[in-house]
Amino acid sequence: KAQNNASLVVQGKSDHTISRHIYGHFSEHLGRCIYDGFWVDPSLNVPKKDRIRLDVVEALKKIHVPNLRWPGGCFADEYHWRDGIGPRDQRPKMVNTNWGGVTEDNSFGTHEFLELCELLQCEPYVSANVGSGTVEEMAKWVEYLNFDGVSPMSKLRKENGHETPWKVSFWGVGNESWGCGGNMTPAFYADQYRRYATYARNYAGAPLKKIASGANDFDYNWTETCMKQIPLHMLWGLTLHYYTVPGNWGKKGSATSFSEKEYFTTMKKCLAMDPLVTKHSAIMDKYDPEKKVSLVVDEWGIWTDVEPGTNPGFLYQQNSLRDALIAGSTLNIFNNHSDRVRMANLAQTVNVLQAIILTDKEKMLLTPTYHVFDLYKVHMDAEYLPILVNSPKYKVEGEEIPAVNVSASRDSSGAVHISFVNLNPSQKITVTTQLQDVNWKGVTGQVLTSAKVTDVNTFEQPNKIHIEKFAGAKKQGDNLIVELPAESVVVLELK
Ligand code: AHR
Repeated sequence: KAQNNASLVVQGKSDHTISRHIYGHFSEHLGRCIYDGFWVDPSLNVPKKDRIRLDVVEALKKIHVPNLRWPGGCFADEYHWRDGIGPRDQRPKMVNTNWGGVTEDNSFGTHEFLELCELLQCEPYVSANVGSGTVEEMAKWVEYLNFDGVSPMSKLRKENGHETPWKVSFWGVGNESWGCGGNMTPAFYADQYRRYATYARNYAGAPLKKIASGANDFDYNWTETCMKQIPLHMLWGLTLHYYTVPGNWGKKGSATSFSEKEYFTTMKKCLAMDPLVTKHSAIMDKYDPEKKVSLVVDEWGIWTDVEPGTNPGFLYQQNSLRDALIAGSTLNIFNNHSDRVRMANLAQTVNVLQAIILTDKEKMLLTPTYHVFDLYKVHMDAEYLPILVNSPKYKVEGEEIPAVNVSASRDSSGAVHISFVNLNPSQKITVTTQLQDVNWKGVTGQVLTSAKVTDVNTFEQPNKIHIEKFAGAKKQGDNLIVELPAESVVVLELK
């Protein structure tokens, strides 16, 4: 493998931290994410609390999942929360019209979701129904979850076995309101948001962080209209959804079998997150120069064709080293925009889209993407350190992208972490890094790579791709020299 050089300058300070909520996840009532992923049949022979699968919980606790978004996605705008409380055998059933037309039995509802979040020690992020719901329905859900006094909803919550309120802060007001969430125009949605947000009350000790349903990828007009029409004090965050689709929505491409050209195109589309976030942020800056409102990328990840033979409505896809490189690059982009991007949610946690966990009955595996979250958890709530990158290009058929992307932070103990991604599948790259205002004596590291970008973990070989110790970094004078392997994610610790 030929060699190539990159140079970096890491600056030793900034004025903000990287919010841990950038490392959030998303669990929709879709395919086998909730049912069969988190919430399993009582007869399944795995450790469980009620019907919550505890091996999945343990794996997620290890990566310090900061928040979990639920119940959708498109499902959220057809979900009526009162169908999912009370005795399970009396809960009404519904059709999950968005995802395979299957019958939803509502056995996993509000109490079950909040129990899951308690087990995960993460913050819940609830998406309320604006598309087919009512202002009253959302207002009562907030009261049910957050009010500590005497009221009809707190009485009902207590009757259902939960004495104290959960005090949920993160509330999404609708989802994809430009599409499955009601096909609204941005001006109509902004007005609806104002109504819904007005009656979603801040009860004592439970102030809400209200999040408006934002743009689909390049729809800058949606962001502009929301920022113009919604008073800033009513808005904690505004969302953005962007998926990396290797082909097109008609033929998205295989998760496991792709050429180098397809790989290149996919990575180019992944890196488009950077200009996308930059442009949406610039529009937000016009109306909110102090950056009070967060950009919340609450759906992102690679979306391929489903695995052959699986239900097309269930969005089950395998997860390759390519997906790990997408995760590493996207999280680097979010870290580098952490002055505005303060929350993000990968779609979706278990068995759906760019899953971090796959299950097959009692078996469970951690995907390459999971390992990236494990490596990057060091950045959560750490001080952001700006980086100047001079990267060689990765070129295919006359097109080129930067081969290397990077982000860095300093944790509360003073240790500096730098995460590198080398997208070039056949060339290792030597990176020379100058560190300004960083005191360090030595470096250790970890790496995620494999022989091919198409490599995956399977139930037969669940550890084919795993984190290994990295010995390719050294201190030379004041500089850090790193030999980045081809197609790899490397995270270094300097202290
Ligand atoms: O994550 C799958 C779907 O993608 C979500 O339900 C929807 O919000 C988006 O279109």
